[in-house]
Amino acid sequence: MPIHGARIAALPDDGFARDVARGLARTPKRLPSKYFYDAEGSRLFERICEQPEYYLTRVELALMQAHVADIAAQLGPGVRLVEYGSGAGIKTRLLLAHLHSPAGYVPVEISAPALQASVAAIAADLPQLPVRPVCADFTRAHRLPDLPVISTRTVIYFPGSTLGNFEPDEAVALLRQMRAEMGSAGAALIGIDLDKDRVTLEAAYNDAAGVTAAFTLNLLSRINRELDGDFDIARFAHRAQYNAMASRIETAIISRCAQDVCVAGTHYRFADDEAMAVEISSKYRLDRFDRLAGRAGLGVRRYWTDPERAFAVVLLEPVSADQIRV
Ligand code: TRP
Repeated sequence: MPIHGARIAALPDDGFARDVARGLARTPKRLPSKYFYDAEGSRLFERICEQPEYYLTRVELALMQAHVADIAAQLGPGVRLVEYGSGAGIKTRLLLAHLHSPAGYVPVEISAPALQASVAAIAADLPQLPVRPVCADFTRAHRLPDLPVISTRTVIYFPGSTLGNFEPDEAVALLRQMRAEMGSAGAALIGIDLDKDRVTLEAAYNDAAGVTAAFTLNLLSRINRELDGDFDIARFAHRAQYNAMASRIETAIISRCAQDVCVAGTHYRFADDEAMAVEISSKYRLDRFDRLAGRAGLGVRRYWTDPERAFAVVLLEPVSADQIRV
């Protein structure tokens, strides 16, 4: 449901308890990954991005640095830049600094501390730019706040291969939501990780310093803190494996022994070695990605990639009815 009348829209996230109870009760167990990003989780994620094995952030930033002038020229003047999941916003600051007279910036971010940090960084960097933050889950409908300047087009920025964290049907639903939000003149600029060899991919999600493991297991600590859980973190392990058939990394939390866990007064049984799914990270091929976008009425207009084709930044625009393939 859209939120009306709020300039700075804030959606309370009361779904955590319900989603955890549901996820622990199902077979196989599964927890939604959006709950990784509390203050501690957001901090750990920033550290993942600095790990030598986690090439995604570095390659995407290098792509933006190399091509930002070209990207800004493609997007044109007067852009209202909407970002899903604002994070630390380094790439965003680069993009905003190069846009031609942007109308403003609307970060949509579930983590209030992360949102505050990125808004402060933008204000320090670009004090003239109108910023209208929205603290919300970007997968839910949200009303975009008005800006003091009329924009010529809405561009949705979705870096970090976060789209890959959604099942294909959910990714299409999210692309459709973007399509509706951007209107017929709009665009989306999306960072996607490209499919590659197992060794490189599994190393990226199993860094030697153990930061990704700490990040994954922080979800259990968050349940302990916020939902009165009694997970013994030492009795669980992080696992990330490449599923070549599905072209994706699948991250799970593994129970190291048979055990009972209590969350908000309800008991849950874990078998020895039981896997609880927590994340998928899809790895794309550009032709398949174009087909996926096509299901949402969008098409790949341009893309920028590195010589190794590790990662791509893709510009999607609405496909008019006569261009839709049958
Ligand atoms: N969008 C990031 C990715 O899929 C999120 C991420 C990085 C992540 N490392 C992770 C999610 C480890 C879960 C576990 O690459």
